[in-house]
Amino acid sequence: MSALLRKPAVLLLAVGTLVFGGPVLAADELEGQKLFKEHCKQCHEDGSPNGEYTPMTLISSQWIRFFERKYERTHKDVIDAKHGEKPVIQAISPEDLEVIKNFAIEHAADSENPMTCG
Ligand code: HEC
Repeated sequence: MSALLRKPAVLLLAVGTLVFGGPVLAADELEGQKLFKEHCKQCHEDGSPNGEYTPMTLISSQWIRFFERKYERTHKDVIDAKHGEKPVIQAISPEDLEVIKNFAIEHAADSENPMTCG
C-alpha cells in the first residue's frame, strides 16, 4: 500500500482513539484478523509444535520476507484438515492471503499497533 493510501487509515485510527477511547479497526483490518484466525491460528497457536505465530511475533520486514520467499515452500506440503484436506497454499485464496499479509505487516512487532490475532 502506498504511503498516500495509508494516511486515511492512520487518521481513522487516531479519530477512533479519540472518539471511542480505543483504536477502531478499519473493515479490511477486521477481515485480516478474521482470516488470520481462520487460516493460520489453528496451526500456530500458543504451544504449537509448528511455532506460535501472530502478527506481533515478527517484525514487518520478516513478514514481507516470509510471504515472498518462505510461505509457499513451507506450506505447499502441509495439509489443512480444516479446509477440505487441501494443502495450505490451496486452502487460502490469493485474495485472502493478500489481506492476511497486510494484516500481519500492519500489526508486526515493530508497527505502531502490534497485535496478536485475538
Ligand atoms: C495446516 C497447518 C498450517 C497452517 C494452516 C499454516 N501453517 Fe504456518 N507452518 C506450518 C508448518 C507445519 C510449518 C513448518 C514448521 C517447520 O518446518 O518447522 C509452518 C511454518 C510457518 C512459519 C515459519 C516459516 C519459517 O521457516 O521461517 C511461519 C512464519 C508460518 N508458518 C506462518 C503461517 C501463516 C501466517 C499462516 C496463515 C496464512 C500459516 N502459517 C498457516 C503449518 C501451518
